Amino acid sequence: MTRGTTGVNRLRRMDRWLAAQPALRRTADPLIVDLGYGAAHWTSLELLERLRRVRPEARVVGIEIDPERVRAAAPFAREGLSFRQGGFEIPLDGDARPAIIRAANVLRQYDEGEVAEAWARMQARLQPAGVLLEGTCSELGRVASWVALDPDGPRTLTLALHLGSVEHPSVVAERLPKALIHRNVPGEGVHDLLRELDTQWARHAPLATFSPRQRFIAAVRGLRDAGWPVRDGVARWRLGELTVDWSAVAPRP
Ligand SMILES: C[S@@+](CC[C@H](N)C(=O)[O-])C[C@H]1O[C@@H](n2cnc3c(N)ncnc32)[C@H](O)[C@@H]1O
Repeated sequence: MTRGTTGVNRLRRMDRWLAAQPALRRTADPLIVDLGYGAAHWTSLELLERLRRVRPEARVVGIEIDPERVRAAAPFAREGLSFRQGGFEIPLDGDARPAIIRAANVLRQYDEGEVAEAWARMQARLQPAGVLLEGTCSELGRVASWVALDPDGPRTLTLALHLGSVEHPSVVAERLPKALIHRNVPGEGVHDLLRELDTQWARHAPLATFSPRQRFIAAVRGLRDAGWPVRDGVARWRLGELTVDWSAVAPRP
């Protein structure tokens, strides 16, 4: 049992990313699971509201392992938002399958060796084109990172930073998903990524006079030019967000 720490608006960057995913936009059944919603229902409600801007018929089921948290959330259920007890097996009515599972700040309390099985159990519940977002963030959501998986495996790693309040991008090292947090050591891809990102950030320090956004965009462009499999473009980078292919950061055996 944990304290179930959560906070209003802390998962906004994850939600914005999810709202843009084909898994939400194209599914015939926009059923979303918020796994481990914590001591209050806030972030489940925010998820519903944000995804409904894209898919007005979206529904969110908040699932918690702690029955007390399910009881506490129950009075806040409404059309499109319900709460139930469960875990990585993702219990849903009938043969329903989610288009999206968001598991935010859940696996941080598990051991690294437990991640693969937890991922596999959640992946097995997804719709064929579904997405599992498994990640971590700081208390206020200013530093976040997440892995995106489809039913076949991990696909990408995203780093998300509030550029006005971070000194250098590698602060995200403390908020990496459990699969990577112990891998920020020489010889691992995520270590190389953070080192290169910091190098680029330092190289483009003069741009900070214009804005930290300009500096970050230049740093990410530098990463890409150095051969890193960076996705998306400037519109994304200016938010302080960077997505790379999982293959570049996957833990080495
Ligand atoms: C730190 S809180 C995160 C709350 C919210 N997702 C957020 O990020 O603000 C983690 C929650 O995950 C729940 N949890 C842990 N393991 C779980 C599991 N296997 N299935 C469902 N919930 C779980 C805990 O009870 C706790 O309430």
